[in-house]
Amino acid sequence: MYNEIDIDKIDIKSEPPAEEPARQYYFMAKCREWAKDFEKQNGRAPQSCVVNMGCQMNARDSEKLVGILEASGFTETDTEEEADFVLYNTCTVRDNANQRVYGRLGYLKKMKQKNPNMMIALCGCMMQEETVVAKIRKSYRFVDIIFGTHNIFKLAELISERMDEKKMVVDIWKETDRIVEELPTDRKYPFKSGVNIMFGCNNFCSYCIVPYVRGRERSRNPQDIVEEIRRLVADGVVEVMLLGQNVNSYGKNLEESMTFAQLLKEVEAIDGLRRIRFMTSHPKDLSDDLIEVMKNSGKICHHLHLPLQSGSSRVLKAMNRRYTKEQYLELVEKIRAAVPDISLTTDIIVGFPGETEEDFLETMDVVRKVRFDSAFTFIYSKRTGTPAAAMEEQIPEDVVKERFDRLLSEVQKISAEVCGRDAHTVKEVLVEEKDDHVEGFVTGRLDNNTIVHFKGDSALIGQMVEVYLDESKGFYYMGTMK
Ligand code: SAH
Ligand code: SF4
Ligand code: F3S
Repeated sequence: MYNEIDIDKIDIKSEPPAEEPARQYYFMAKCREWAKDFEKQNGRAPQSCVVNMGCQMNARDSEKLVGILEASGFTETDTEEEADFVLYNTCTVRDNANQRVYGRLGYLKKMKQKNPNMMIALCGCMMQEETVVAKIRKSYRFVDIIFGTHNIFKLAELISERMDEKKMVVDIWKETDRIVEELPTDRKYPFKSGVNIMFGCNNFCSYCIVPYVRGRERSRNPQDIVEEIRRLVADGVVEVMLLGQNVNSYGKNLEESMTFAQLLKEVEAIDGLRRIRFMTSHPKDLSDDLIEVMKNSGKICHHLHLPLQSGSSRVLKAMNRRYTKEQYLELVEKIRAAVPDISLTTDIIVGFPGETEEDFLETMDVVRKVRFDSAFTFIYSKRTGTPAAAMEEQIPEDVVKERFDRLLSEVQKISAEVCGRDAHTVKEVLVEEKDDHVEGFVTGRLDNNTIVHFKGDSALIGQMVEVYLDESKGFYYMGTMK
């Protein structure tokens, strides 16, 4: 639909339409007028810089935000120093993410003193917290626009409002049941793309703030998802990553309910699509049907991100994860029996309130038994408003740090051993970019997500090629194209 809309033909003298997405196209047209004036005065188009600070869901939101800015007459820049419009798409899953935002705002304040016309906007998960917005209103008054996770589609309207009103615009929605489709997006890679299949989360793991800032679970209609992927494929995409906080519960709230396994079958049938990835899978909802679909698929990548969080059944209960250590291990066995060469990755939290040395050793035990290809390890971060924040027995920092270091070194040792298992075989690689380090080399990814560097021309980017894996370097391979 976006391609069919000629934004320049929209009459911005009339009242804005009430319905979406037409209303947003009206405001994009209005921003374009402003951008044209800016260009007349400055001899160049206004530049925008969108900084993504969160997970893949946030990254996908950032692509939509960039798409809206482009349609609104902005060109893109990577550096905040050059930008006339800076937008931070924030994350709040751990406290250090928040601290980073405050640090960078201090820096932006200085830049804005030099360039008073610079506009600063904040959005994303951190903005869904009332205390954060109150703090910014009070101590960071130079911020121009604040919005949340539920209304990113309104960016052009909020910019227009800021231009008309000349004061801070704040628009945060607590919840939404709306999914606004058909807005412009700008993809970071021409050949692969994330695709949202659902928004929000209903799991309320006791440490996690995501359900509070992303709202209740909402699945997109399968027809919309399939149509979006068809269009992406027609536009050169060969790999999609289906995104959701818990993809395994996809479809539960649809009018005609549907499972994730059924959705995958529909996506698999799309001609021209070569690879399907998805994240994240909650172990409690991973069905036998899904394992069966993975086993029989020619397109679903042999990689599963299956967050463990803790190996202690006692801690898992306190975390409200709703599986035990034994159930997790059984699930891994079942998956490996069906898809023997699957690469398994995970997330682990160290130092959850009340975690004892014995609990921690249970986590180490699972790590040794499963032998993950890689694991993201996190130090527990207390998030205000979550049940875990009110738990007694928060663990002293030095104890957590010592456990964290032990876990990290074990994870790294195992992953160096495991990741090399395909050495001296030929594998299909999707070429992703020019190699950062070696001139004349390119970098690509195996189906199991491992990186491969090999000699090749940048014209190969976006293509699937056969590569002999000469040598494993622990986390990546050096290879030779066949
Ligand atoms: N929906 C995904 C996780 C999204 S958040 C899932 O359930 O798997 C990504 C990771 O951040 C989580 O898997 C968890 O390991 C980590 N995380 C979440 N809240 C945290 C907290 N309060 N402290 C430390 N790590 C946390
Ligand atoms: Fe957070 Fe748990 Fe939801 Fe993942 S499943 S986003 S960890 S509450
Ligand atoms: Fe993602 Fe961070 Fe939000 S992990 S969902 S960007 S809190």
